[in-house]
Amino acid sequence: MTIILDGKKLANEIIEDLKNLTVKLEKKPKLAVILAGNDVASEIYVRNKQNKAKYIGFDSVVIPLDNDISEENMLEQIHILNEDENINAILVQLPLPEHINKQRVLEAIDPLKDVDGFTSYNFGRLALGYKSLVVPCTPKGIIRLLQKYNIQIEGKNVLVIGRSNIVGKPIAILLQSQNATVTIAHSKTNNLKELARNSDIIISAIGKYHFIKKDFIKKNAIVIDVGINRTKNSLAGDVDFEEVAPLCSYITPVPGGIGPMTIAMLMENTYELYKYQVNQLK
Ligand code: GUN
Repeated sequence: MTIILDGKKLANEIIEDLKNLTVKLEKKPKLAVILAGNDVASEIYVRNKQNKAKYIGFDSVVIPLDNDISEENMLEQIHILNEDENINAILVQLPLPEHINKQRVLEAIDPLKDVDGFTSYNFGRLALGYKSLVVPCTPKGIIRLLQKYNIQIEGKNVLVIGRSNIVGKPIAILLQSQNATVTIAHSKTNNLKELARNSDIIISAIGKYHFIKKDFIKKNAIVIDVGINRTKNSLAGDVDFEEVAPLCSYITPVPGGIGPMTIAMLMENTYELYKYQVNQLK
């Protein structure tokens, strides 16, 4: 029997918990989102994040920047947010316009307000296994969902497909720290199907519509689909759910799996940064 990992349900529980905590606060956590350019998908993601923040009772602000904004101006915007004591969390929506140096921009964020955990300070702490202030949202959401369903990580062979800084690298670090044996595959991997067939858990974050087919799957494997691919009139994952799901013990749907968990973790990170900052001031 296949169990669907209901990310939407768990995300809603987390959001309700945050709402109940926030109502008791006199001063509300505040999230700032920088949205540069006019990537349609980014605009939708940012609107979803803002709506969720509003629902919880957080304050939030979106700073839209023109596609041709200079890097210096963008850095100046981040500097202003770093200095603003009413802002607890800063998110720079990716991708950035091509002429902007992503590394420079992300590194400009104050690590104490780095809600994505993408600065070298926070990412480095994660990689070194130190106690981290924030864990990147999507990997954190994946681990939380596995834990909710009591899925054992220790000792498992996990294949992570995709090596991005946003998902592939950090999820591999987190799984390894929980005693999984992790393989990271990517576009240049030769024997992907064979690796997949030997894996207890597959985490796909490559962004290729229905790339993972039934012949990639070991019987009773656990499949986590991080892909969000836009089709003509809906969203679909990297996994061909219809043919893959019957072989799995657990699988995430798209939509309703990792997507909502990522937003819930962003909200949790915002709350945690706020708490950390408030306690530092005491
Ligand atoms: N673009 C796609 N995913 C993400 C994410 O997790 N954080 C940011 N900042 N941008 C993204």
